[in-house]
Amino acid sequence: MSDIKILALSGSSRAGSYNTTLLQTAARIVPKGVDLDIYSGLEKLPFYSDELDGELLHPEAGRLRAAVAAADGVLLAVPEYNYSLTALLKNALDWASRPAGRHVFLGKPTAIIGASSSILGTVRAQLHTRDVLHALQADVVPRPEVLVTQAAHKIANGQLSDETARALLAEVLENLVRKIEHKRILAKVAQDRAS
Ligand SMILES: Cc1cc2nc3c(=O)[nH]c(=O)nc-3n(C[C@H](O)[C@H](O)[C@H](O)COP(=O)(O)O)c2cc1C
Repeated sequence: MSDIKILALSGSSRAGSYNTTLLQTAARIVPKGVDLDIYSGLEKLPFYSDELDGELLHPEAGRLRAAVAAADGVLLAVPEYNYSLTALLKNALDWASRPAGRHVFLGKPTAIIGASSSILGTVRAQLHTRDVLHALQADVVPRPEVLVTQAAHKIANGQLSDETARALLAEVLENLVRKIEHKRILAKVAQDRAS
């Protein structure tokens, strides 16, 4: 399948972030015909407030919503802060979750990956992110879980060197693409039936 666009969001704005490096690796190994763009500027989003939403929508929120809407699927790289996802990523998901009931994550094929320096490799942050995506009614890729543990041993100089992690990353990308293709087929069937 060609012409598939994946938007990638990193929960870290840190220079040298392990999670952003995972996304950069993902962009290099996506299946043929797939484009993966890494969103930049999540840190420019203000904290979510009703007063910045609606008619007076903050431009950065509009930019994020448009990018998610234009993508066939989303890949989230989830660092772990204090056993959960980072405020940076949670804030982005909060912005993307409005307007309620007709927001851009409804049914959106979405995969979660993560890296941390600990031996648990962001498992708690990823579980919390799954809960948030459940609230958003995103269509989440269930497996494989990509938990890059002890990242300092596996990521250096902008490269993910661990072969097992690379294989899992490739597999989760394939599953995300399969979900996108499946969704397209269902939409085509529904369209054919309606016409
Ligand atoms: C405020 C803060 C809290 C953290 N809490 C956790 C944690 O609960 N579990 C964990 O595995 N690592 C924790 N870490 C370590 C980060 O996961 C680690 O720094 C990781 O590299 C951050 O992702 P990044 O490299 O993509 O920026 C914490 C780091 C910070 C700054």
